[in-house]
This record gives sequence, structure tokens and C-alpha cells, in this order.
Amino acid sequence: MPINRQHPKVLVFDSGVGGLTIFRALLEQTPDLQVIFASDNAGFPYGTRTEYSLLQRVHRVLDALISKFSPDLVVVACNSASTVALPSLREKYDIPFVGVVPAIKPAAQLSKTGHIGLLATPATISRDYTHKLVADFAAGKRVSMHGSSELVQMAEDKLRGVQPNTELLREILQPLTDQASMDTLVMACTHFPLLIEDLKPLLPQVTNWVESGSAIARRVRTLMPEDNSRPKSSEPPEHQAWLTGSDPQLEKLQDYLRQREGLELSIFAIEAND
Ligand code: DGL
Repeated sequence: MPINRQHPKVLVFDSGVGGLTIFRALLEQTPDLQVIFASDNAGFPYGTRTEYSLLQRVHRVLDALISKFSPDLVVVACNSASTVALPSLREKYDIPFVGVVPAIKPAAQLSKTGHIGLLATPATISRDYTHKLVADFAAGKRVSMHGSSELVQMAEDKLRGVQPNTELLREILQPLTDQASMDTLVMACTHFPLLIEDLKPLLPQVTNWVESGSAIARRVRTLMPEDNSRPKSSEPPEHQAWLTGSDPQLEKLQDYLRQREGLELSIFAIEAND
């Protein structure tokens, strides 16, 4: 793929702040990329939508974002969206798409007890795509699945300055806390690594916490080989963050993104009623 920009432009797209976990991993591995981090907060949450509604929404929002930013590559940094929308997006555009889907395969390889947990949104837990991953890569293993959209909201709140309530977290995780032999947990929602320090003390039996960031960054790197014909620059790339709608806690989120991620936040309102 010939890319003539000094800094290849990657659009990292999620329903919310979960895409930041992928953004961080990308910057660690490929610092010369320019990353546009886009969060469809106006269409949030994705993890309770039906397949049809999610497909409609993802296509409308990505149509608008791709025509505004003309990225060289798109990362769909959302398991709920990737498990339904990747084939139709790849068919529609001729830029590469990298999706984030539940990391069942590495988890099955890491587990010593053969018992893995899958923590995701209710949408991801219900997908045929997810069940096929389990059948293909965790055959013969025990897989305990749990879907929660409260955790997604807690991750959003945390970045706006509200610390997660431990009692509520304990209740949410209850179906997994009893699973004493579960040594490996797949965080199959990009929001959940933002809560890892809050989750760890509640699931002490888990020794392997599996998230997708570094595998996705490696994949992006293979699709964007160091291109000697690309103009070189001594200027670092300027990353940006965009929301699709207003946010009542905008200032707090803005502060977080500026201080912790070095990102200036802007709003690109997208006409999409669904
Ligand atoms: N971050 C998204 C995922 O990986 C889902 C968040 C939501 O429910 O909107 O599934």
C-alpha cells in the first residue's frame, strides 16, 4: 500500500473511551503514525444494540469519519462492532480495516488450568462470531462467559473523574468470582483494561489478564511497513480526538485526554438519528 504521507493516518474508532486502550498500544509500537481517535459517544453504548442497529450506526458514522479524515487504515477498536461489521466495511472501502475481536486463542494457549473467562458486552457475548472463536480455539476448554454493560459505563465514568464503586463491581463480577479454577480472563471489550486495577483484587484467581492492544498494534505495523519512499519528517505527528456529540462531562474528559494522553478533543457532530 503506497502511502505518501510523512505520518500515515490511522483512524481508531470506538463507541467511547475504550478505543484509548488501543490508541496507547499503537503509539508505543508505531510512534510515527498520526492517530485520529474517534468516539461515537452520541451512539453509545454499542454493547446493548441489536446486530441490525449496530451495523446501521457503524456504517453511518464511519462513512462520515472516513470522508472527513481520509485515513490510510481504520482500527475498529470495539469488539461489539467488529464482531458484526468487519465483512461489510471491508467490502465497502478499499482501505484496510483492523478489527478487535475476543482474544480467545491466546487465552486458550496461556491457561494452565484449561478454564478461561470471557468478560465482554452482552452484544459480544451473544454473537455467533464469538461462539465460533470459542469452538475453533478453545475446544475442550472450559469457558465462562459474562456480559456487562455497567462495566462499560464505569470505565467511561472513571475517565470523567468518578472512581468505580467496589461493592457494585463485586456484584457485577459475581458470576465469575466463584470460578476458582479460572486462571485466565479475556477482556473482550476495549473499555475494560481501563478498569484493570479495580478488577484485579476482585478476581485473585486470575493470573493472565488478556487484552488486545499490543496484538492490534503489531497487526497495524505489519500493514504499514516502514516505507523508504515515504517523506521523512522531524516533526512528531499530531494526534487528535473527536466525539460525535456533546457530552455533559466534556470538560472533565477534555482534561483527562489533554493531561494523560496529550490529546485535544473536538466535536464532529454526525447526522445519524439511530
Ligand atoms: N468498547 C466496546 C467494545 O469493545 C463496547 C462499548 C459499548 O458498549 O459501547 O465492545
